Amino acid sequence: MAAVSGNLEGKVAFITGAARGQGRAHAVRLATEGADIIASDVCAPVSSSITYPPATAEDLAETVRAVEATGRKVLARAVDVRDLAAQEQLVADAKEQFGRLDIVVANAGVLSWGRLWELTPDQWDTVVDVNLNGTWRTIRATVPAMIEAGNGGSIIIVSSSAGLKATPGNGHYAASKHGLTALTNTLALEVGEYGIRVNSIHPYSIDTPMIEPEAMGALFAKHPSFLHSFAPMPYHRVADGKSEGLAAFMTPGEVADVVAWLAGDGSATLSGSQIAVDRGVMKY
Ligand SMILES: NC(=O)c1ccc[n+]([C@@H]2O[C@H](COP(=O)([O-])OP(=O)(O)OC[C@H]3O[C@@H](n4cnc5c(N)ncnc54)[C@H](O)[C@@H]3O)[C@@H](O)[C@H]2O)c1
Repeated sequence: MAAVSGNLEGKVAFITGAARGQGRAHAVRLATEGADIIASDVCAPVSSSITYPPATAEDLAETVRAVEATGRKVLARAVDVRDLAAQEQLVADAKEQFGRLDIVVANAGVLSWGRLWELTPDQWDTVVDVNLNGTWRTIRATVPAMIEAGNGGSIIIVSSSAGLKATPGNGHYAASKHGLTALTNTLALEVGEYGIRVNSIHPYSIDTPMIEPEAMGALFAKHPSFLHSFAPMPYHRVADGKSEGLAAFMTPGEVADVVAWLAGDGSATLSGSQIAVDRGVMKY
């Protein structure tokens, strides 16, 4: 993690899917930079079609503990991004507590596997409903409060490499994440007049509970040609003049560094940009 800069001193950040993984890293990183945090997460299973373990209330409590350890304030709540009224209530309560809203990190998301014509309706509906419809609901709930606060701001939409390229074996996820790219670019044009910037990040292979090596292994064993779309990142960690070899994963903290940069004035010239967080793998 980069050193504390206080870059976001006095600002307030709203983060979805903040109980664990990348969302927790973003919450802690933005707090480290000086922002107060609104952290939400469903903290429960979203559907039986999601086969990896769900985040829990204890996970969100751990995010709260980690944010408070930075000295910043945090308002945390179990909220499903599919529930617009609950997100609006959280924004209203945050407005009362913090008086402003500057940063949104729309991070909540789910993943499942299967070829498009073999997916169950529940697999399709859950992934699209959480990733795309839920993110739109986050925008619907937060943007009016940002405009009303009148301080401009930065919105970071968490898409995926699957929001820029084909990913055989999870076309529903790719459809939802491509939808977020369109949402990002349209919103960037719509909120520019309020001094609000909107960019999407497109991570690849981050070490979080969403990654299911067994499910992926089974898919690639059945369809070896799909592996081409999930190539290893063409990048070696180098220390003391020695390569440590290909790293299969990046860490949530490494993605949080990019989110912190997008949240702050260092990225003031960027809006409507798609930031690949992929160590170059999408150039294959
Ligand atoms: N891990 C990767 O390799 C990777 C790569 C590209 C993009 N992403 C995206 O990054 C984001 C964060 O995922 P992660 O890797 O930290 O996985 P994760 O499963 O650890 O975190 C996702 C969080 O979102 C929450 N969430 C899920 N559905 C929700 C809902 N309906 N309402 C509120 N919260 C909900 C979960 O409870 C969980 O805490 C997701 O949007 C994911 O699609 C992940």
